Amino acid sequence: MDEIQREQTLNWLLAVRDSVLNLADLKEGQKIADFGCGSGLLAFGVLERFEDRVDLIFSDKFQDCLDECQKILNETKIKNKAAFLKTDVSDIKLENDCLDRAMTRSVLVHIKDKQQVFYEFYRVLKNGGMYCAFEPIISENTRYYELLKSEEITDYTDFKKAEKEFMENPNDPLVNFSAESLDKNLIEAGFLDVVVNVQVASSNYSPKKDAILNWFITPPAPDQKSMKERFLEYFDEKKVDNFIMEVQNILADKPVKIESKTAFIKAVK
Ligand SMILES: C[S@@+](CC[C@H](N)C(=O)[O-])C[C@H]1O[C@@H](n2cnc3c(N)ncnc32)[C@H](O)[C@@H]1O
Repeated sequence: MDEIQREQTLNWLLAVRDSVLNLADLKEGQKIADFGCGSGLLAFGVLERFEDRVDLIFSDKFQDCLDECQKILNETKIKNKAAFLKTDVSDIKLENDCLDRAMTRSVLVHIKDKQQVFYEFYRVLKNGGMYCAFEPIISENTRYYELLKSEEITDYTDFKKAEKEFMENPNDPLVNFSAESLDKNLIEAGFLDVVVNVQVASSNYSPKKDAILNWFITPPAPDQKSMKERFLEYFDEKKVDNFIMEVQNILADKPVKIESKTAFIKAVK
């Protein structure tokens, strides 16, 4: 990322963080957990607002994320005796009915069985407690084949078929859900007043060749396959590289419109 992209991303992350925290209607004295906290985007937002006037849990499946949050917390000098909980959200190492708020940002995309995670959030929340989250709905993003014309691409139909198939794969945690399925899963878990508020962001821009290559080779998360790797499950490397090159040649420096859907989620126990 260059400086401008970095600043835009940071501003976007802060805006998402604030929206989740506002949605959660946080209050002093509450017991709050940021599950899949990563480097603590939501949790540090809570601390900025409440310092030591809340009980805060940084939680992640990976110890290095917790270590990083602990290090940042030590550097901030915020006087909060935050807890650090290493746990998988599919099997949360907390007792029943103990939290006022459970929050996540971009964690559900890592989890194959969303229903199980919602059962767990419901179990650990107190009655009246709330789950709040932000999640990209990647299955409904603009697809490559929608940006291209069939006559421009060698074997367009094959690539379209492959992309449709892997973007609708029920076993892929990144794409196996929609706003509607999240809503259904939350209600099934027992939540009341479920709101899954979908927003569509449109960006119109002219990507550079390098940026287009990055669309293909950058995985959406360290443990997930890049788009190139997904295509390689259908075609050999020569054919995939040729496809990427054709896409670069066709789209570079031309205006493209890309839509991405996101959801803000609120559910009360
Ligand atoms: C995209 S990052 C988001 C991090 C953070 N929530 C943020 O807003 O910046 C996803 C996080 O979810 C965590 N994660 C993935 N699978 C998990 C699981 N099954 N249980 C708990 N955390 C998980 C990862 O370790 C990572 O920190």
